[in-house]
Amino acid sequence: MSEQLAGRRVLITGGARGLGAGMATAMAAAGASVMLADVLKDVGEQTAAEIPGARFVELDVTDDAQWEAAVAHTVTALGGLDVVVNNAGVEVTSLIVDTEPDDVRRMLEINLLGTMLGLKHAFRAMRPGGAAGHGGSVINISSVAATIAFPAIGGYSATKSGVDRLTRVAAMESGKLGYGVRVNCLYPGLVPTDMGVKLAVETSAIGLFESPDAAVGAVVELTPSGRLAEVSDIADAAVFLASDASRFVNGVGLPVDGGMGM
Ligand SMILES: NC(=O)c1ccc[n+]([C@@H]2O[C@H](COP(=O)([O-])OP(=O)(O)OC[C@H]3O[C@@H](n4cnc5c(N)ncnc54)[C@H](O)[C@@H]3O)[C@@H](O)[C@H]2O)c1
Repeated sequence: MSEQLAGRRVLITGGARGLGAGMATAMAAAGASVMLADVLKDVGEQTAAEIPGARFVELDVTDDAQWEAAVAHTVTALGGLDVVVNNAGVEVTSLIVDTEPDDVRRMLEINLLGTMLGLKHAFRAMRPGGAAGHGGSVINISSVAATIAFPAIGGYSATKSGVDRLTRVAAMESGKLGYGVRVNCLYPGLVPTDMGVKLAVETSAIGLFESPDAAVGAVVELTPSGRLAEVSDIADAAVFLASDASRFVNGVGLPVDGGMGM
C-alpha cells in the first residue's frame, strides 16, 4: 500500500465500526495517524487496538463541548490535525405517513448538526492560527440517499441532502476566509454494514419488498456495476479525498455507488 497519507493526522467520527472503521484502516495503511471518535467506547477502543497506531476518544457528535474537547485531545495526541471525516450517522426507516418526530429529530441532530459541529471545530483547529493551523481536508459522509428517491428513508434522505448542501457552503466559507481547508462529501451506495443490513430488513418488514434479499436485489438492479458497495470501495475514495491526489477537488459530492445515483 502506498504512503499517500504519510504524516497526516486524521479524526474519524463514528469510527468504532462499519464505514468509519474501514476508512480508519485504509487511512492508517496509507500512512496516517488516526483518532477514532464514537459514542461506543468499548467497541471503539477494541477497533483502535486492531488498527496500527490508532487511538480512540469518546465523542457524541451532537455535543458542542465534547467536540471542542475531542479536537483538542486529537491535536495534542497526534501532534496536529489534517483531516476530519464526519462519518457518524443514524438511519431510522419509516414511511412518511408513519413519521415519528423524535426519530426525525435524532437523525437531524446526529447526521446534520453533528456534521456542522464537526466542520466548526475542524475549521477552528485547522485554519491559520488554530491549534493545528495548517489547513487540510474535511470529508463529510452523505449518501446515495441524497441523490435518489428510495421509499421509507425520507427523513434520512433529507438529512443527507442537508449534509450535501452544507458541504458546498463550508467549502465556500473556508475558501473565502482563507482557512486552507478543502471540504467534500461522499455519496456511498448501500454497504452491508449494521446500518445497511438493517435498512434491507426494515424496508421488507414494512412491506415494500418480499424479503431483505429482495430489497438488496432491488438496489443491485438499480446499480450499473451490479453489486452492493463494499466498505473498501468507500474507504479508498475517502483516502483519495484526504490525500494530495485530490488537492484541487473542493466543494464536491463524489458518488461511490456503482452508478446507482446517476
Ligand atoms: N451503510 C450504508 O449503506 C451507508 C450508505 C450511505 C451512507 N452511509 C453513511 O455512512 C456513515 C457510516 O455508516 P455505517 O454504515 O458505518 O453505519 P454503522 O451504524 O455501522 O456505524 C455508525 C457509527 O456511528 C456511530 N454514532 C452514532 N451516533 C453517534 C453520535 N451521536 N456520536 C458519535 N458517533 C455516533 C455509531 O456508534 C457507529 O459506530 C453514516 O453517516 C451513514 O449514514 C451508510
